[in-house]
Amino acid sequence: MATVAIIGTQWGDEGKGKIIDLLAEKAQVVVRFQGGNNAGHTLVVNGKKHIFHLIPSGILHDSTICMIGNGVVIDPAVLIEEIEKLEENGIQIHKEKLVISPRAHVIMPYHRALDVAREARKGKGKIGTTGRGIGPCYEDKIARSGIRMEDLLDVEFLLEKLKSLLEEKNFLLEHYYHQRPFSPERIAEEYASYGQRLAPFMDDVSIRLEEAKNKGKNILFEGAQGTHLDVDHGTYPYVTSSNTISGNICCGSGIGPLAIEQIIGVAKAYTTRVGGGPFPTELEDPLGSWFREKGGEFGATTGRPRRCGWFDATMVRVAKRINGLTSLAITKLDVLTGLESIKIAKNYQHNNEKVYNRTPSKITDFETWEPEYIELPGWKEDIRKIRRYSELPKEARNYIETIEEMMEIPVSIVSVGPGREETIVLRKIF
Ligand code: IMP
Repeated sequence: MATVAIIGTQWGDEGKGKIIDLLAEKAQVVVRFQGGNNAGHTLVVNGKKHIFHLIPSGILHDSTICMIGNGVVIDPAVLIEEIEKLEENGIQIHKEKLVISPRAHVIMPYHRALDVAREARKGKGKIGTTGRGIGPCYEDKIARSGIRMEDLLDVEFLLEKLKSLLEEKNFLLEHYYHQRPFSPERIAEEYASYGQRLAPFMDDVSIRLEEAKNKGKNILFEGAQGTHLDVDHGTYPYVTSSNTISGNICCGSGIGPLAIEQIIGVAKAYTTRVGGGPFPTELEDPLGSWFREKGGEFGATTGRPRRCGWFDATMVRVAKRINGLTSLAITKLDVLTGLESIKIAKNYQHNNEKVYNRTPSKITDFETWEPEYIELPGWKEDIRKIRRYSELPKEARNYIETIEEMMEIPVSIVSVGPGREETIVLRKIF
């Protein structure tokens, strides 16, 4: 048995979905523990590409149970749509395939409305959220005024709760944001019907995880977003509203910290970011556009073009420390093919000092922290068909080994293309 976590080391979109899909072949349980449908991963179902946002990436493996922990925020209509899409494609979703925590919070229509209205009002200083209501839903959770999945099963209780909550929300929406108010009765009716549809899947994720552990099953924890979007450790306030790091696995699923044995950090061979916020190695030139086109760097959730730049070793070193990473998975190495030379930001220069293992906590300080680069030779050979590390061009190996030396942890997986088989596994995970 092994318990393995997959965590993004940058600003999300590192290609975690592919790594999870690959490892899920040998895992019997895949668990999401934070975030919501702000995340997105592409799955190919019967030859057709689909983008899923809430369903964990292991769903296509027959013997894998997918669990959505209490730390996830769920938009039930989105989840039902994803279940139906899978069923239309002949993949039956039943309670031995999908488990949803009754403690998970529900994204309500007023959360989405507030998310969008707030961003519009912020104008230039906006975060660039996905507009899915993630922030307002987590706010209500912490303010103890959230609706949980189990609340959808009791329509009278739900209606009472909504009547009291909407007094404040509607006031804000109508009088501050000049938006339409919501009717508690309508929402209660609609969301109670979602509750009925999802009721068969609701079960205690913590208990199901303990049972799986006791039976010696392999368990995979699927992180969403990335370390630098973490609400505490990321580039605040340009972050998401949950803790995206490995420490939150315990809170978001109900498992003790000693149960997690391996923590694999996923890092793209370069860096991308979607939405606002600092990005020291960003390439705002034709090379940045080249990365975007070649790497297909457009958001899976919103379709927005991603900002692109060089690999930032300091950001990934910070991710190593905060998550306690045991190894790295480097993705999209093939995108670098064809470059004459490749840069890595090895550290920052700040106050005439070289900084290797931290980033500024104050957002405005990013302006004075300059990345310092090394330049490595590129390669021209197509690497997508290579399955053995030793067969990679020596320049590509040099690139990986330079990152390995800088991080002081081994690289366990190198991805050389989007397909499951386009992967080089250097160290056994399960
Ligand atoms: P929110 O999570 O929708 O509140 O958005 C907050 C910030 O996190 C924005 O900059 C989003 O673009 C970013 N973000 C949220 N989810 C993801 C993701 O899955 N990948 C990349 N960026 C994300």
